[in-house]
Amino acid sequence: MNRIEIVDGAGFSCAEGDTLLRAGLRAGLGLPYECNAGGCGTCKVELIEGAVESRWPEAPGLSDRDRRKGRVLACQSLPTGDCRLRLRLDPACIPEIRPERRKARLTGMADITRDIREFRFAAEGPARFRPGQYAMLSLPDGTERAYSLSNIANADGASHFQIRRVPDGRMTERLFDAAPTEIMLDGPYGLAHLQPGARDVVCIAGGSGLAPMVSIARGIAADPADARRVHFFHGGRTSADLPGEGWARTLTGLGDRLAYHAAVSDESVPGLAQGFVHEVLAAWMGDRFDNYDYYCAGPPPMIQALETLLVATKGLPAGRVRFDRFF
Ligand SMILES: Cc1cc2nc3c(=O)[nH]c(=O)nc-3n(C[C@H](O)[C@H](O)[C@H](O)COP(=O)(O)OP(=O)(O)OC[C@H]3O[C@@H](n4cnc5c(N)ncnc54)[C@H](O)[C@@H]3O)c2cc1C
Ligand code: FES
Repeated sequence: MNRIEIVDGAGFSCAEGDTLLRAGLRAGLGLPYECNAGGCGTCKVELIEGAVESRWPEAPGLSDRDRRKGRVLACQSLPTGDCRLRLRLDPACIPEIRPERRKARLTGMADITRDIREFRFAAEGPARFRPGQYAMLSLPDGTERAYSLSNIANADGASHFQIRRVPDGRMTERLFDAAPTEIMLDGPYGLAHLQPGARDVVCIAGGSGLAPMVSIARGIAADPADARRVHFFHGGRTSADLPGEGWARTLTGLGDRLAYHAAVSDESVPGLAQGFVHEVLAAWMGDRFDNYDYYCAGPPPMIQALETLLVATKGLPAGRVRFDRFF
């Protein structure tokens, strides 16, 4: 166990094999982060004393300049002894549910589209997380990636994921070709989760960004006090990438309170809007942008286009638009 001190702030203990970020969050501290996967750079900290090993030295979240200045990514850093860090804690990052590592067993799988499959796992004890959060999944060989939960918190310990197969992807090829009967789950993580609100909700999923949007829609459906309607925009390259309206209505449990809007970018299909999902959203929305709160999940270029549309162009305040970037 290593002791980590934050200059002008709190301290916490970091267990063998744990990263600075996760140990800090497990201790209930608001360490800034987003992806937990080395991609975004939000978790950069300055290492004042001590040493760390990086799980991924080439992680794109850190520039050469950062490295020269002694900065490290807290999400990739395994301390090799006691450390002192300089960082600014953010109250918004204090975890409502502290993340935990647990073994989970595979209980089922089902194909959703030609390359998205739902993987169902169960662990001992209740599954506690907010709709829209994610967990880190590790295979027995130590390969680990972030995946959003598609179900909602439950007493049975069930955690469901909707995962897109990436050609030659280190994690997904193994999951799809020979899913292990047991994995390690670490979570929950993520700040782009469902919030209470008075406005109807727009969920925008691109590609593999389906799971957290399904979870958010399910979270609304499961709360008897929540009467919000959901507009579910789902973008794919072709119609084979989209599971369809009936699937979304049934799975989320929202019935007629869910309106499904499909967008295909590479194909012309009668009855389906053609274009990128942010273009289809803009065409449908007209001048009604202010009527909704927004949740968006998918690859970084899609999120960038949505951020430009919703925040930069339409001027929606950051608190009404939540982005989940899948690095
Ligand atoms: C918050 C979050 C939620 C996500 N939710 C989902 C989801 O619900 N469904 C889904 O299909 N995908 C999701 N992803 C994407 C997912 O984590 C993987 O990137 C994707 O499945 C491809 O993994 P792969 O190993 O098969 O592909 P690869 O191409 O082998 O790896 C892809 C990613 O892994 C990371 N990586 C590469 N090398 C290393 C390394 N040496 N050490 C550590 N990391 C490395 C990089 O971020 C890279 O982009 C999410 C990503 C994030 C950040
Ligand atoms: S949280 Fe560490 S790089 Fe994104």
